[in-house]
Amino acid sequence: CLGFDILCSALVAMLSASLAVLFFPRQWSLYSGSKSTQELPRRLLNSQELSLYDGEVGSKGIYLAILGQVFDVHNGIKHYGPGGAYHFMAGKDASLAFITGDFTESGLTDDVSSLSPLQVVALFDWLLFYQRTYQTVGLVIGRFYSKSGTPTKFLLHVESLLAKGQQLKAKTEGEMLRFPACNSEWSSARGGRVWCSTKSGGVERSWTGVPRKLFHAGASGSRCVCVEDPSAAKENPNLQEYDGCSTHAVSCSLVE
Ligand code: HEM
Repeated sequence: CLGFDILCSALVAMLSASLAVLFFPRQWSLYSGSKSTQELPRRLLNSQELSLYDGEVGSKGIYLAILGQVFDVHNGIKHYGPGGAYHFMAGKDASLAFITGDFTESGLTDDVSSLSPLQVVALFDWLLFYQRTYQTVGLVIGRFYSKSGTPTKFLLHVESLLAKGQQLKAKTEGEMLRFPACNSEWSSARGGRVWCSTKSGGVERSWTGVPRKLFHAGASGSRCVCVEDPSAAKENPNLQEYDGCSTHAVSCSLVE
């Protein structure tokens, strides 16, 4: 390629892009988002190789892995470099700590088997953050990817938790819109009060609604939600009126 630098780099880029698609087809379709071909993962590193990129003096650079995907976080040197608040995440895959906030040695692990489906959703949000913010380097051979860069059974399991978590999240968000939380206040003189308005529970809407106690199967206690249709609420066994408060009242005083 000597003397034909531009043509040569274009060819190399095209070749590596097609190789990357060949070797990481699933990767591409699952988590690529709006990534360009230059950002496709290229390298396979083992954890020992990854540890050489911890940003310490004499290290090869600053990489960090999450869910087995490696990113060059050099642009975030203030966070990940020596003295940075998140330096301990450099040179390793500490996926679990992104959710637990446990930055001790035992907490900085890629074993995410203790996470709930909703926590797995939050972890993939972090993955998306790194994909959008930093340059992709490749994959770590180990818990999430095999020596050939294919997803392990463990990753497939985590992905099934992700799907479950996304469904749960959608359901919860739907419920939050249908039953937004009430406004509430308490004073020693007047005691507690819950009420509904066209904005409560972080939801702006065209209806005011009436306060009801919402019970969840398997959970103890209830929370106050605003319900649009007072009569329909009567048919829902999980919704209960407040004692001493009329069916159509938008505000209820809490009786001890
Ligand atoms: C589970 C707990 C937490 C995790 C895993 C976490 C992780 C991170 C990471 C990885 C970054 C760097 C992001 C980047 O590359 O730009 C960051 C930035 C930051 N974190 Fe946290 N964090 C946690 C809790 C907190 C808490 C409790 C606070 C505040 C009291 C906080 C304050 C900040 C701030 C202010 C930045 C941005 C700093 C800047 O841009 O200069 N974090 N966090």
